[in-house]
Amino acid sequence: MAEAQEFSDEDVQETVDDGPSLPPLWDIPRIVGIELTNFLSYKKAHLELSDFTAIVGPNASGKSNAVKAFRLLRDIPTYGLPVALARHGGFDQLRHRSNGKPNDPAIRLNFVFEGAPPSFYEISLGSVSGKRYRVKRERAMVNYGERGESVSFDSDGSRLSASERLAGPADDLRSAIAPGQSALSTGSFASYVVQNTLRSIQTIEINPALVGALQDPSSTDEFDPAGGNTTSVFEALTHEERTRVTEHLSAVVPGIVRIEPQNFADKQTLAFYQHSPSGNRKFLAKQMSDGTLRAFAIMLAMTQKTRPQLIVIEEPEVAIHLGALQSLVEILKSASSATQVLITTHSADIIDEVPVDSLRVVWSDQDQSQLAVVSEHTRSVLRTGMITPGALLRADALDPDRVA
Ligand SMILES: Nc1ncnc2c1ncn2[C@@H]1O[C@H](COP(=O)(O)OP(=O)(O)O)[C@@H](O)[C@H]1O
Ligand SMILES: [Mg+2]
Repeated sequence: MAEAQEFSDEDVQETVDDGPSLPPLWDIPRIVGIELTNFLSYKKAHLELSDFTAIVGPNASGKSNAVKAFRLLRDIPTYGLPVALARHGGFDQLRHRSNGKPNDPAIRLNFVFEGAPPSFYEISLGSVSGKRYRVKRERAMVNYGERGESVSFDSDGSRLSASERLAGPADDLRSAIAPGQSALSTGSFASYVVQNTLRSIQTIEINPALVGALQDPSSTDEFDPAGGNTTSVFEALTHEERTRVTEHLSAVVPGIVRIEPQNFADKQTLAFYQHSPSGNRKFLAKQMSDGTLRAFAIMLAMTQKTRPQLIVIEEPEVAIHLGALQSLVEILKSASSATQVLITTHSADIIDEVPVDSLRVVWSDQDQSQLAVVSEHTRSVLRTGMITPGALLRADALDPDRVA
């Protein structure tokens, strides 16, 4: 009795309810999909991602265009919207054209924090005069925590309103945005979360010549998507991580036993030690085959210090021979429980290794890209085990789930 009186009402309140949790500024959510509207060859498409997803389709069907949407998203917080668009050839190039008429593009990224309802970020652009653009709408809703917490912002391209207080006067939840700029840099909680999420998407387009060249020492915060800083990124790995990359590479290129950075004046490269019956031989990166350098750079990207949430790899089959390719896909699949992987491919050998639920089929229909999962009929054929997805692809019979 006497004890209870020592607590004030405030104390009791505090122990009962410690308030909503802060937005997860540093946690990275799972990317669940992307929705494209009037973007490049897509009029309308919805790509859902699993841990490991493979987009398969013939040439010019729209595989690379889907990848460009991810790269554009990542570029927005990295370079700002005007430069991000310029790096993709400008707003006008991105607009979907059917019958010569340009349409206004929009991209929506769906993501989810564990245990919370779905979240999204969405940006749609329109033209001002001729080829100039404006942001028509940009918004995000971030759901997190176990108590239904949520932060959001919404902008019409010139005014932003956010769910929580921005820097500035305590009661000012609105702020102005300069023409053509993204609302992501306005500092609301929701925009921080979206920025970090977009930055955690990495598209990898390895240029073997850059991996093989003498490289300048670089910051290792970020893996250069073309492979231009592989030596520095490798050097920053722990002993265990180096061993893992070396083992992965030896599954693709038998005999690789050690990889070591090597300096030449102010430049650097990697040395690969290969075991052969006649003893160990050392090769500098530039002496290795293009396929080996590509495979190495992809494995390094999967092991880098700053682990991306989603890695997008275009056509891993290029320059990599069949046996090595199967090992590479196995490694990508097993790593995808930690880092989501999206690949594009037209290799029947790759899709033989991919679960049918992870396949997305793209095709071109009247100059529009279409994207869908594999049809139920085709799945039931595959379930019999009498034929593989690759064999169906070779026979041009990997049917997508077409919606009328
Ligand atoms: N703005 C656009 N509007 C409509 N179609 C486009 C646009 N930009 C590119 N395309 C079409 O996209 C196709 C190339 O798609 P891409 O994704 O590169 O194919 P792939 O599957 O080979 O990677 C080309 O046929 C091109 O005509
Ligand atoms: Mg392509």
